[in-house]
Amino acid sequence: MPKLHIKTFGCQMNEYDSSRMTDLLHASHGYQTTADAREADLVLLNTCSVREKAQEKVFSQLGQWRQLKLRRPQMVIGVGGCVASQEGAMILRRAPYVDMVFGPQTLHRLPAMLDRVFAAREKTAQKQKETPREVDVRFPEIEKFDCLPPPRADGVKAFVSVMEGCSKYCTFCVVPYTRGTEFSRPFDDVITEIYELAERGVREVTLLGQNVNGYRGARHAGGKMNFAELLHYVAAIDGIGRVRFTTSHPLECTPQLARAFADIPELAGHMHLPAQSGSDRILRAMKRGYTAAEYVEWIAQLRAARPDISISSDFIVGFPGETAEDFAATMELIERVGYDQSFSFVYSARPGTPAAEFPDDVSAEEKKARLAKLQKRIAEMSAEISARMVGGTERILVEGASRKDESRLSGRTENNRVVNFDAPAKSSAENLRGEFVRVKITEALPNSLRGELLPTDMAESRAAA
Ligand code: SAM
Ligand code: F3S
Repeated sequence: MPKLHIKTFGCQMNEYDSSRMTDLLHASHGYQTTADAREADLVLLNTCSVREKAQEKVFSQLGQWRQLKLRRPQMVIGVGGCVASQEGAMILRRAPYVDMVFGPQTLHRLPAMLDRVFAAREKTAQKQKETPREVDVRFPEIEKFDCLPPPRADGVKAFVSVMEGCSKYCTFCVVPYTRGTEFSRPFDDVITEIYELAERGVREVTLLGQNVNGYRGARHAGGKMNFAELLHYVAAIDGIGRVRFTTSHPLECTPQLARAFADIPELAGHMHLPAQSGSDRILRAMKRGYTAAEYVEWIAQLRAARPDISISSDFIVGFPGETAEDFAATMELIERVGYDQSFSFVYSARPGTPAAEFPDDVSAEEKKARLAKLQKRIAEMSAEISARMVGGTERILVEGASRKDESRLSGRTENNRVVNFDAPAKSSAENLRGEFVRVKITEALPNSLRGELLPTDMAESRAAA
């Protein structure tokens, strides 16, 4: 069996794409994955250029793999993802030992590219011609999904991409240029995929998209589905007991989506809603399309539908022109909303984006100080939320044994905290994997919670699923 090693940089979308590459190459060429690049026949780098130092990271990783290839010349090296999409054939010029360059929307063509690399190598061996290399970083949109094999479910949770690309063109972001404009998968295809995953034991799905709540999937019967409608259909699939989604854009938050949190019990009480900034001036310069007051109003609608919903966000600090007052407005927004988690970053100019032309006038020191202040405050809020959970009861999907202690079980709360709790007798512990159970939270630790399994009627827990 040939061996495949994939290294992934960046976001959940990239993690998802890497898992689809694994499925695809397993189906086409029988590749088995290995965590050790030294023993791999094919090594793939799935890159991300959303934030800084992307290019340097890529070429430093490729430099290491070059050493491996010098020892094992048969090794094939491929580069995919957003850096590949942006740099294209430039990658081959700087790293001529790379065999294939593919973009996020052409990864389904990997098996054919690989075959052409093998064929070209054979011809080179017969001295017929130079080894050509493969570059395909186009955006053929939906073709990608039509060509991927059904995902292999090896656990109780799965990711399902429902829309790709982005048409919002925030002034700081490369995604619309590297992943193309927004397109949604047809509704019937998404439902069929989740139905098949449920049949293979998946109990929780996370619907993925750069602006997942902007989903508008065509139905085979005609017409289009919006995201709130999609959620109703997904939650109704037999076996699916919990539905999550990420990432949402505030502009696509409709009253219908807020109502879904009241109407769909399977919908986890958590929403990741990137605000980016609390200053209207900066939001305008970012071209986000909403004001801080409008954002707060959407949060109020969500809380009216699901009072205990947990909210997380992305923030950028030090955007060009961000004054101390602008940053204070961001901190004020954080106080008003009360976040559970954030992915917050120092602004970095991305080549080719409009903001890269703006004078980057906030000093590196100031950016770092603002980021530290913001992260400290959100970490405090998150710890307060964990502490408040002690004594309460949570519905947990049992994922398996705890990472640190095999004798315990582990799962996640709706607001995404890991909970470890004692397993009953071993046989029933195995039976509990994939079940929804009730756990009383007894202790809040910095990165997880501890709890006690409450007696659950198994029939009830299946019905909940
Ligand atoms: N769709 C999401 C939204 O509505 O904002 C954003 C997805 S974007 C790929 C992920 C995150 O990366 C953004 O929310 C932003 O915080 C961060 N990001 C993107 N470009 C950035 C840049 N130039 N500098 C710093 N952070 C950046
Ligand atoms: Fe990027 Fe803005 Fe789209 S952050 S992914 S251009 S919503």
